[in-house]
Amino acid sequence: MRKKVIAGNWKMNNDLSESQNLITKLTSGLSNLKLNCDVIICPPYTSLSEANSLIKNTIVKLGAQNVYHEDNGAFTGEVSPQMLKSVGCEYVIIGHSERRTIFKESNETINKKVKKALEHSLKVIFCIGETLEEREKNITNDVVKKQVTEGLEGIDEKEMSNIIVAYEPVWAIGTGKVATPQQAQDVHKFIRQLIENKYSSSVADDLTIQYGGSVKPDNAEELLSQPDIDGALVGGACLKAESFIGIIKAA
Ligand code: 13P
Repeated sequence: MRKKVIAGNWKMNNDLSESQNLITKLTSGLSNLKLNCDVIICPPYTSLSEANSLIKNTIVKLGAQNVYHEDNGAFTGEVSPQMLKSVGCEYVIIGHSERRTIFKESNETINKKVKKALEHSLKVIFCIGETLEEREKNITNDVVKKQVTEGLEGIDEKEMSNIIVAYEPVWAIGTGKVATPQQAQDVHKFIRQLIENKYSSSVADDLTIQYGGSVKPDNAEELLSQPDIDGALVGGACLKAESFIGIIKAA
């Protein structure tokens, strides 16, 4: 049985002292709970090292929100997988829709990042999802298929055990418009089928597929009870310890 994974993508929020406060509240709120899921936080780069110290001896794991696809060199402003590992990251989010749209990351770039992260033993939270326009045109499955095919090009069966897929419909991100559990389930099932076709049924069965897009404590339980929804990638609601804990408890 797949273990659920709840990850918090802080995006560009929280300076160092705000990060310390949030992590302290989160870890103390979780300390007496019996959890059925893994918990990951993805603070901004500037808080990773401190976050790593604060989560020591807790169940919380650390991830970054982005990475570059080179080991080092003249790439001003970028951060390599080794640098992320050196500050305690176990995970990295790659291909978030904000990276795709605002920073123009293509499937090809995302694929390079996935490969480089895996090469350095980072686990990847690989994000995909359609825009509202694409959903209205009824091409959600085509979009998701292209993102999976091109984004995971050249990734072998063994490497898939270090990948989590996060399905985040762009129209549900930060809008308060959550996908219905059935809408999300349908796409998750389609993604699992794609993975089965590309790899095998055992890779598909073992794959964690998170849903992301306006997940809140009051809608988490229904979403997470769908057979192919194995966790959540949470934006806004992970910025308050109480609401993030509420989602974690729903898993
Ligand atoms: P919201 O939960 O704020 O909609 O953000 C979702 C998201 O983009 C997580 O990566």
